[in-house]
Amino acid sequence: MNNHSTVSKTKRIREDFPILKTLIHGRPLVYLDNAATSQRPSQVLEAYCSFSRSHNANVHRGIYSLAEQATDDYEQARSKVRDFIGAPSSEGIVFTRGTTEAVNLVAYSYARKFLKRGDIIVLSVTEHHANLVPWQLAAKSTGAELRFWPMKPDGTLDMSAATDLLRPPVKIVALTHVSNVLGTINPVKEITTLAHKIGAKVLLDGAQAVPHLPVNVAEIGCDFYAFSGHKMCGPTGIGVLWGREEWLEEMDPFLTGGEMIREVSLDSATWNDIPYKFEAGTPPIAEAVALGAAMDYLNAIGMDWIREHDQELVEQAMMLLSSEEGVQIYGPKENHAALVSFNVEGVPPHDLATLLDRDGVAVRAGQQCAQPLMHWLGVPATARASFYLYNLPEEIDRLLEGIRKAKEIFCYAR
Ligand SMILES: Cc1ncc(COP(=O)(O)O)c(C=O)c1O
Repeated sequence: MNNHSTVSKTKRIREDFPILKTLIHGRPLVYLDNAATSQRPSQVLEAYCSFSRSHNANVHRGIYSLAEQATDDYEQARSKVRDFIGAPSSEGIVFTRGTTEAVNLVAYSYARKFLKRGDIIVLSVTEHHANLVPWQLAAKSTGAELRFWPMKPDGTLDMSAATDLLRPPVKIVALTHVSNVLGTINPVKEITTLAHKIGAKVLLDGAQAVPHLPVNVAEIGCDFYAFSGHKMCGPTGIGVLWGREEWLEEMDPFLTGGEMIREVSLDSATWNDIPYKFEAGTPPIAEAVALGAAMDYLNAIGMDWIREHDQELVEQAMMLLSSEEGVQIYGPKENHAALVSFNVEGVPPHDLATLLDRDGVAVRAGQQCAQPLMHWLGVPATARASFYLYNLPEEIDRLLEGIRKAKEIFCYAR
């Protein structure tokens, strides 16, 4: 793929995203906060609206035509998710509100049932709070211990530590597929193979992976995989937990109420089949349908193209930022996902983000929901620019221009 054809394809893609025409403080929006949430194309907005206009009803309960249509749409969305992540069957696809809820589901329903005092849960210091705090609580309530995978200075996992680390009684390995701060892409297939040798289960937090890389859970071989719709051109309020059917069958329910039951008496209840056992109450129906449309959209563009496009942008951003005086970037130099976290000497990240906003450039500033990682990096916070399929190389120039202005304002220019 040459740069020219990438750029013209990106320009066509941008036409699908009405929000990208917005002016911020009189300047065209440069949206570089895709790791927090991505924008939505007209196709996804239309799928949400058209479901709401013509097919809206509750699912799995009504026997009238509209309810059957809504149920079909909802279940079709589940099939699209199955195909998108290469899951062997739809029964393993549980709709949740997002990655956070998906990880909590496993930390409650799997860990609390199967872990015991002295068992070990392996995590890393790079984890988003969503894949850390649920395990802290699971450990407290079961007597299990948390252990952290040693890191190399570049922010990758030290794989030479695996043999020492992955020994009984390690029962769960819960890691991010792609770090939301460092952009590290973890060798999840290798980790899964090693963990399975000692009978440990593997949960992967795919919030930053599924939107950007072709992901196939069957090929990875993991036990649970979690991700969010809103980071992949879908709406908020919808996410996915994929789990191996045999584990989902054995797990207790997470939330309880309507739809997840089979029979209820005044003092007891039995559970519905998977995945419905984990979908208590009215699910986010229009959101699931719109997530299905987002997957159709990404498939039509091509996940391989998206990966290459992201790669070109992040390489350009890392090259420009690392050669800019006073800018420090974090994370590995190679095999870096679609984001770059950095600090500008003498310019606090929140001030930088505010100044960039005046020029229409949206970046994230703060602890990126990863306080332990900030400690590990030895910084209170970072700025982060994160890219997606509609970002253009010239937007990185706008970022750099804004950083230079901020340096001048903070009297840093020499
Ligand atoms: C790596 C990672 N995990 C989990 C989450 C939480 O996702 P959500 O807020 O959609 O549940 C995020 C969101 O930024 C993330 O980047």
